[in-house]
Amino acid sequence: MKINKAIFPVAGLGTRFLPATKAQPKEMLPVVDKPLIQYAVEEAYAAGIRQMIFVNGRNKRAIPDHFDTAYELEAELEAAGKKELLALVHSIKPDDMECIYIRQPKALGLGHAVLCAQCVVVNEPFAVLLADDLMVGKPPILKQMVERFADWQASIIAVQEVPDDQTRRYGMVAGTPVNDRMMDMTHIVEKPAPKDAPSRLGVAGRYILTPGIFKEIAAQPRGVGGEIQLTDGIAALMRREKVFAFRYEGRRYDCGSKEGFLEANVELALMHPQLGPGFRSYLKTLEL
Ligand code: UTP
Repeated sequence: MKINKAIFPVAGLGTRFLPATKAQPKEMLPVVDKPLIQYAVEEAYAAGIRQMIFVNGRNKRAIPDHFDTAYELEAELEAAGKKELLALVHSIKPDDMECIYIRQPKALGLGHAVLCAQCVVVNEPFAVLLADDLMVGKPPILKQMVERFADWQASIIAVQEVPDDQTRRYGMVAGTPVNDRMMDMTHIVEKPAPKDAPSRLGVAGRYILTPGIFKEIAAQPRGVGGEIQLTDGIAALMRREKVFAFRYEGRRYDCGSKEGFLEANVELALMHPQLGPGFRSYLKTLEL
C-alpha cells in the first residue's frame, strides 16, 4: 500500500497566538515569505502525496483562497510581463495536486478533525500533518516516514526528545526499539505530568495512520481538555495493530507558540538563499 492522501487539520482556534489569530487562521501566518500551511503541503507533495484534504473551520477562508487560482493577480502579472512572479504563484498548486475541503462544524479536537475526513479517505492508509509544526529535514520528515511505511506497512508516529518540563504539551510515548530510529510503541499518553510520562519522547505533528484509526476515534469519549483526542484513538489502535514511533532526522519548530514561531522565522531567514546573508549581517549589528 502507498500513501496517496494527506489530511491537514486546520480547524483549531489558535488561542495561543491571539490576537494574530482572531480573524485569520494560524496556518496562514508566514514564516519568512510563505504561510505555514504551504510548508506542510510542500512536505506532503515531496513525499509523493497528491491528494490534500483540508479540515477547515470558521474564519479559514484564506486557506482555500491560497491554493485557488487568483485570476486578477495572474492577469496583472501576465500583462506586466512578470514571468517569475507568475511562475511562483502557479507553483503553489501544481497541476497534478488535488485539494479537497471538509468542514469541521465545531473544534471538538484533533481526533474529531481527523474523523471528519473519513468520508474522503475511506479505506486506505493516509498521512496527517499539523501545519503549525514546521518541520525541516533532508529528506523532508514525511518522506522519511513514507519510506519507512513502504517497509513496515503499519502506522508510524513522528517523535522527538522533549525537555522534562514540557511533557504537558505533548502526547508522550514509549516502546521497544526495533532499529536505530523505530520503536514498536507500547504506550501513548496525552499531555502527562513529567512524573507520569512513559519516556521523554513526545509526538510531533506528523503521522501515518492505517484506516483502522477511524473506528477507534469514533469510539472515544472526550479526553484531556474535553476534546476528542487523536492520542486516545492511537492508544486504542495499538491494542489491535502494530504502531511504530519514529525518531525523525531534522528540526521541528512549534509555530503554534509565539516563541517557536519567532525561532522559525530567524532560523529560516538565515537559511534563505537570497535573504540569508543580508539578514545575518543585520543581526550582527544588533547589540544583544
Ligand atoms: P492545537 O491544539 O495545536 O491547535 O491543535 P489549536 O487548538 O488551534 O491551538 P491553541 O492551543 O488554541 O493555540 C493541533 C492541530 O489540530 C488542529 C489545529 O488547527 C492544529 O493544526 N485542530 C485542533 C483542528 O483541526 N480541530 C480541532 O478541533 C482542534
